Amino acid sequence: MKTLELDLGERSYPIYIGSGLLARPELLTSYIHGARVAIVTNETVAPLYLGRVRAHLARYNPVEAILPDGEQYKTLEVLNRIFDALLQNRCDRQTTIVALGGGVIGDMAGFAAATYQRGVPFIQVPTTLLSQVDSSVGGKTGVNHPLGKNMIGAFYQPRAVVIDTDTLNTLPDRELSAGLAEVIKYGLIRDPGFFAWLEAHMDRLLARDPAALAEAIERSCRNKAEVVAADECEAGVRVILNLGHTFGHAIETGMGYGAWLHGEAVAAGMVMAADLSRRLGWLTEHDVARIRALIERARLPVQAPPMLTAAQFKSLMSVDKKVQAGKIRLVLLEALGKAVITAEVPPAVLDETLAAARAAA
Ligand code: NAD
Ligand code: GLY
Repeated sequence: MKTLELDLGERSYPIYIGSGLLARPELLTSYIHGARVAIVTNETVAPLYLGRVRAHLARYNPVEAILPDGEQYKTLEVLNRIFDALLQNRCDRQTTIVALGGGVIGDMAGFAAATYQRGVPFIQVPTTLLSQVDSSVGGKTGVNHPLGKNMIGAFYQPRAVVIDTDTLNTLPDRELSAGLAEVIKYGLIRDPGFFAWLEAHMDRLLARDPAALAEAIERSCRNKAEVVAADECEAGVRVILNLGHTFGHAIETGMGYGAWLHGEAVAAGMVMAADLSRRLGWLTEHDVARIRALIERARLPVQAPPMLTAAQFKSLMSVDKKVQAGKIRLVLLEALGKAVITAEVPPAVLDETLAAARAAA
């Protein structure tokens, strides 16, 4: 087992990464201090892993909230089912919420923890590659709104993150690829050595080589933990973790939540960000070709959906948490491995990227 720490002073917490961690109850129970636990999961993950977690936590008389599966259920209405379960079972303020599932469950359970009785402890047990490398770490929690992705939420940190890499054995291929989008992101924004490692080892990752996956997860979590430790509430550098996300969130919202997986939309969005960075003279043609090739090898889309017009893109992009004083801020690449945040993209150049994305599709 590898242990990383996210350094947030008194609110620091460990990130445990390894095989067979769901068989180690102490990794959960060390962080439970009250008498009650509530496990939040979904209809797909419950039959796979809930029994094991429930058995470990039997002495805490666990409450269970089993939500419907899908990004389209990441809503305030469905969130309320967690509160229903907590209130029906008289859960008090010392109750610890355990989020067992992918990013949708982690974000919703985390938001429930942030707001139930003004805040109860929670533990992340991520079971998708995407949630293991990104969403379980860093304390962003929330739900979608029909007008914008993740628009309702809170920064609220877990007490621990327990990543059992064996859970990836049951993950569908398409979901594995979606997680690889966020893995590639870390290479692009701040870790060129990791990008080169991914170029060398993508075939092993797709073949689910356990050692390669464990290394990719550890390097991703290390990158994420460093950025979050430097800027927990996204006042500055944390924005770079959103490379490709302004385009990607527009795709997810515009196509209807769940039609494109988050990681797929981010992948196409990162190619658009790379294209824009080249048009601004920061990346070379060769850099963009490398980025496209790696994303394609990860079996991810490199083009935006053709049905979204440039006008729709711009309208959707204007509902983004990075918008400041009405100006869209984008994360672009100054070089391969170095992100930059800018609000100064000439509109004509953005139009060229949007037109190129449609022309290519
Ligand atoms: P997801 O939670 O929808 O999980 C993907 C699918 O895999 C679901 O059908 C799920 O039921 C299933 N699944 C989960 N674990 C499984 C397993 N071990 N075996 C088989 N099936 C399994 O999607 P995701 O990609 O994990 O997360 C995407 C969400 O995360 C989006 O809502 C996105 O906005 C959010 N996100 C949040 C952050 C953050 O910092 N909080 C960062 C990135 C993404
Ligand atoms: N996924 C973006 C962030 O955590 O900041």
